[in-house]
Amino acid sequence: MKYNNILVEIENNIAIIIFNRPKVLNAMNTETALELSNAMEKCQEDDNVRVVILTGSGDKAFVAGADINEFKGKSPSEIMRFSELGHGALRLLETMEKPAIAAVNGYALGGGLEISMACDVRFASEKARFGQPEILLGLIPGWGGTQRLARLIGIGRAKELIMSGEQITAQRAYEVGLVNRVFPAEQVMEETKKFAQKLAGMPPFTTKMAKYAINYGYDMALDNAISLEIQCMSQCFSTQDLKEGVAAFLEKRKPNFVGK
Ligand code: CAA
Repeated sequence: MKYNNILVEIENNIAIIIFNRPKVLNAMNTETALELSNAMEKCQEDDNVRVVILTGSGDKAFVAGADINEFKGKSPSEIMRFSELGHGALRLLETMEKPAIAAVNGYALGGGLEISMACDVRFASEKARFGQPEILLGLIPGWGGTQRLARLIGIGRAKELIMSGEQITAQRAYEVGLVNRVFPAEQVMEETKKFAQKLAGMPPFTTKMAKYAINYGYDMALDNAISLEIQCMSQCFSTQDLKEGVAAFLEKRKPNFVGK
């Protein structure tokens, strides 16, 4: 698939996906959502990719939401399809076996905040702004905002943001647990790559098991979730990397994980 709206760069086992529609602050139209979905499938299949970073082109926006130009004249069933398309792409992102990090370099509004919330980790520039402004359009979030925001920052704060359409700063997003780390604008990409490199050096099957247990255990009853964790933890003992990690600790040396 040829991409018209995103750029994909792969270096040192890290795929960097750049939303690249700077004239509309990287707003997501249907074509961009299809491209994101395709890129996620490719990243999942490619053994050379260990970690995925998502960011926006330019210094103003990560993604300023769905492309509002596409909303005019749309019927409920057409918008339902658009919502389902976004949900499909973000669920792929959220559940793929590799870690995904959002490097939020500017506005992360509406669908933009929703993309970042489907990532495992969010790093933000001091200049980033977060919000679900859909209500100002007469709309509610449609790519997971009503669900993932409440899970990340609590139901009261999620309602506050979604019902007011207000934007919050990166610092406030950090305080409420929406972003993991905040950096000066010029450092956010470098720091994200550094962290991605660290994750890329971890044993991949173990990373997969950790993500699986957290993602699927989260909404289960605790006893079921504990049972899932027991299964996932035991599976780690099938890998060469587990043997290496334990041996390295006992021999007081750094582990050399081979990804098996
Ligand atoms: N869709 C389409 N175009 C957009 C856009 C969007 N979401 N966001 C910005 N743009 C365009 C603007 O129309 C403008 O285009 P022109 O130069 O042709 O006029 C260009 O990008 C630059 O934007 P502004 O001039 O508005 O820049 P600003 O600095 O004054 O404001 C902003 C920046 C606060 C992000 C403002 O652009 C804005 O509020 N954007 C809309 C944000 C929004 O409502 N997002 C939610 C969309 S709905 C959604 O996402 C549903 C869902 O759940 C999937």
